[in-house]
Amino acid sequence: MPTKIEKDSLSGQNTTGHEWDGLKELNTPLPKWWLWTFYATIAFALVWVVIYPALPIPGATGTSGWIAREAVVRDVQQAEARMAPMMSRLRAATPQQIAADPELRAFAMAGGRGAFANNCASCHGAGGQGALGGFPSLADDEWIWGGSLEAIHHTITHGVRANESDDQRQSMMPRFLADGILTRPQVNDVAEHVLSFTNRATDQAAAGRGAALFAENCVACHGEKGEGNRDLGAPRLSDQVWLYGADKASIVQSISNARAGVMPSWGKRLDPAIINMLTVYVHSLGGGE
Ligand code: HEC
Ligand code: HEC
Repeated sequence: MPTKIEKDSLSGQNTTGHEWDGLKELNTPLPKWWLWTFYATIAFALVWVVIYPALPIPGATGTSGWIAREAVVRDVQQAEARMAPMMSRLRAATPQQIAADPELRAFAMAGGRGAFANNCASCHGAGGQGALGGFPSLADDEWIWGGSLEAIHHTITHGVRANESDDQRQSMMPRFLADGILTRPQVNDVAEHVLSFTNRATDQAAAGRGAALFAENCVACHGEKGEGNRDLGAPRLSDQVWLYGADKASIVQSISNARAGVMPSWGKRLDPAIINMLTVYVHSLGGGE
């Protein structure tokens, strides 16, 4: 309820004229120091708007001509110029030479870690630990295509089944059920035989029948005892490491419809120096040979 403005007898201040249930509001003035600070910030902001590009208008620059985007570009160019000599050494060296030279190696490890986070972690995990669904761990001793510096360099440069490079890693497991090579009971038998490599067969008779089917259809790629073959990118089936799942259903699925993991090729996307750094970095993750 607005009432009339009056002097408060206790504090000597005017009231605002507002009153609630008999309570009146004092109109205490703002402290002087606060008010002047406030005016100072307004004055500062006006000067800022004139000097710096503060208005949200495309192309607007202040009187100083300073633009954040140009400043960043300049900083990046300076950083690149500082790194250029090192980058050209990393480009010219082989991964072996980089790994053997402490200075190059330290630089490659730092750069490789950053490049891995940017380009590879989305599929292989932040620490290269891999992910179920066909994304192999790069930090263990199990390699589909090989864990030497040369093999890793080749895989990164040319990719796997991405059809982006003539030198890509390539091999196709047949779709045994989908293409009618095996019947459903035969797929079951051969899956039991695969499980028997890790002593997990649930049906010994089926696993026994599967042995002949395995010898006929699978040995050429996966080896007699399921030890795998790196030339063909056929993974080992006799250990605990599974790309697509260790359970019988996943194995039946792999045999029925086959798997064909795709890894992009990086040879045309990344600087050769970066590929060398990535090679040394991945090799160091734990499984390098
Ligand atoms: C789009 C997902 C994807 C990205 C991104 C990716 N990879 Fe891969 N990578 C794969 C898949 C899938 C495989 C397994 C291919 C196969 O089944 O043979 C693989 C395989 C590999 C292998 C071979 C592993 C072995 O056991 O032989 C290496 C090494 C590798 N990747 C390194 C990298 C590096 C380094 C990068 C980043 C520059 C990268 N990958 C980015 C999906 C990816
Ligand atoms: C032409 C070669 C080839 C033949 C023949 C072949 N495979 Fe494969 N197999 C592969 C390749 C290559 C992969 C890996 C695919 C990938 O990396 O995405 C694979 C993957 C698998 C996997 C998945 C492994 C995992 O870690 O998840 C299983 C299980 C498997 N094969 C079983 C068999 C069985 C059983 C047979 C015979 C009935 C067979 N394969 C025949 C090449 C072959």
